[in-house]
Amino acid sequence: MKSPITKAILLIGGLGTRLRPLTYQRPKALLPLLNRPLISYEIELFARHGVTDLIMAISYQADEVKAALGDGSRWGVRLHYVEEQEPLGTAGAIKHAAPLIDGPFFACNGDLIYDVDLAAMAQAHLDSSAQVTFCLRRVDDISAYGLIQCDDAGRVVAFREKVGHDETGRNTVNSGFYAINPQVLDAIPQNISYSNETQLFPDLLAQGKPLYGFVPAQEGYWCDVGRIETYMAAHTSLLRSALDWVKPAIGRGSIDRSAQVLQPVDIAGDVTVGAGCRIGPDVAIGAGCCIGDGAVVERSILWSECTVGADAYLSGVILACGAEVAPHSRHTDEVIVPQDA
Ligand code: GDD
Ligand code: MG
Repeated sequence: MKSPITKAILLIGGLGTRLRPLTYQRPKALLPLLNRPLISYEIELFARHGVTDLIMAISYQADEVKAALGDGSRWGVRLHYVEEQEPLGTAGAIKHAAPLIDGPFFACNGDLIYDVDLAAMAQAHLDSSAQVTFCLRRVDDISAYGLIQCDDAGRVVAFREKVGHDETGRNTVNSGFYAINPQVLDAIPQNISYSNETQLFPDLLAQGKPLYGFVPAQEGYWCDVGRIETYMAAHTSLLRSALDWVKPAIGRGSIDRSAQVLQPVDIAGDVTVGAGCRIGPDVAIGAGCCIGDGAVVERSILWSECTVGADAYLSGVILACGAEVAPHSRHTDEVIVPQDA
């Protein structure tokens, strides 16, 4: 179903500190997952719901983001870029995009893989008196997220950002997707760093503005790809069909006939796999990689142009662009970046 709200602001200007050293090489929005940039999963979710004007709030490595994503035509959407010279925080970034807003809009954290009915969320927002509608998610461990407490009618009564536990036993957190009325922009100060989670949302609550939680009828896949562990977890889940519109594939390359490929794997084009290798399960390999004879690669993510020496063993490894692994070496649960990075 198409969403009655057709504009969104995607927040992708953060530094991605918890994903260093990977985010020294590439901004978080461009981390490859099944050989596509992380942010493309949100772009595609919006596109599938007819949300076709996407405002990309960029700052860190802004030029790289623009060059990689272009005008959005490959997803059938229009991408508009709004750049902060210095990151303005999650609310400051929305304020910075205000000139492009002319009605209710979505906003979302740009590091999520999410399968949610945006049409139902937008309709719930428009049918209520909410100034902001928060898409909520139940989680086992709330400590990495923003707890949002609602009353029985779904009206938000408290925000508690990243607390270890909640004495009431509540576990509905901020999924990072919002539907927002344009009047909310007036509550954000101009040109200073301002946070949605710790400033804007509590401000609106204190002013008595109507804020509502939305719990989707179906709990689709959701992952905040903010840490190495969640990056790896998302990689495995996507390979194993967490999103029914994403299918792993093997591109044109040179895979030796004696190599064993254990699904699921996603292999880009122009990859060379030598004799007697074992690739998979749960492996993604970027374009231009070269895997030497006899190497074993399992549960790993190789960005483009990596070299794996003969008889090397990789398990739970992330190789950033251009990384090299010595022949006969063993690597388990490591992040490897090129020597000169
Ligand atoms: N443009 C811009 N400018 N974007 C920013 C800035 C900024 O100054 N700061 C952060 N962002 C972007 C990040 O790039 C990221 O995509 C998003 O805002 C959220 O920042 P994170 O740093 O990933 O936040 P978090 O994961 O710790 O917590 C947030 O997400 C959780 C859901 O995954 C909070 O919103 C939590 O309440 C929420 O539960
Ligand atoms: Mg995050």
